[in-house]
Amino acid sequence: MQTQLPPRLHPRPFLKWAGGKGQLIQQYIAHFPAQFSTYYEPFLGGGAVFFHLLPPRSRLMDINPELVNVYCCVRDQVEALIDCLKVHRDRHCADYYYQIRAQADGSPIERAARLIYLNKTCFNGLYRENSKGQFNVPIGRYANPTICDSELLYATSLALRSSRIQLSPFESVLDDAHSSQDFVYLDPPYHPISATSKFTAYNRYAFTQDDQIRLHDVFVKLARRGVNVMLSNSDCLFIRDLYQDFTIHTIVASRAINSNAEKRGKITEVLVTSY
Ligand SMILES: C[S@@+](CC[C@H](N)C(=O)[O-])C[C@H]1O[C@@H](n2cnc3c(N)ncnc32)[C@H](O)[C@@H]1O
Repeated sequence: MQTQLPPRLHPRPFLKWAGGKGQLIQQYIAHFPAQFSTYYEPFLGGGAVFFHLLPPRSRLMDINPELVNVYCCVRDQVEALIDCLKVHRDRHCADYYYQIRAQADGSPIERAARLIYLNKTCFNGLYRENSKGQFNVPIGRYANPTICDSELLYATSLALRSSRIQLSPFESVLDDAHSSQDFVYLDPPYHPISATSKFTAYNRYAFTQDDQIRLHDVFVKLARRGVNVMLSNSDCLFIRDLYQDFTIHTIVASRAINSNAEKRGKITEVLVTSY
């Protein structure tokens, strides 16, 4: 009989990331392809879909070098990372937070621990860089933040063991995904829903309308190869128009990260599939 793991040992995202898909997975389940061999996630972020699917073979990519470094450290050097995080946990206070926030370099492990530490203790738990690539979020008001969740880090390290993790722009998925055995999930920064809202920029890499069009080209090329492609985006005319030749599902979401409580409410998003 298979041993049932306690829920704490099941891998799940270890970072809170803008655009995280944790709340939407239940609505996505009906739309995943029935079968595939290799999973690709070119806009990795917090990786909620990856941790839900736990595919045996996967290629995970993102354009943010600090994020990619964290994933590589969790996969390859989890014990050293945990040791470093324990130091942050034991020294955590406002002065220490701002001292660590001001640091820019360090070894890969030090940079990974710094990102996790800031992610767990900063205001709204949102990783955000200014145009110079500096992390500029003030400290959050948490009574007792979980800075070092060793069990979760060990569980995610195990889940990532057979993943190829790479720093690359989304187009590079075209180098590898070729057949109906491949499943590509695309979760780009969303197209703004109104003319007044700003172009989405989670960090210094703004994602423009031209990027959405280039991403659509990638979607079409993959679909023509028979690859199973699924894409999340905002529910707006531009996106519905762009993907009119594919199946568009409507997903109901709530704005999880919004500092203005009044703006937290239900909105719709789209999930586009090529199959
Ligand atoms: C919406 S988030 C992904 C959220 C993720 N699915 C989750 O559940 O947490 C978008 C990610 O795309 C990355 N990104 C932005 N522009 C990119 C590009 N041109 N190529 C690859 N990744 C990019 C960002 O660094 C960010 O991590």
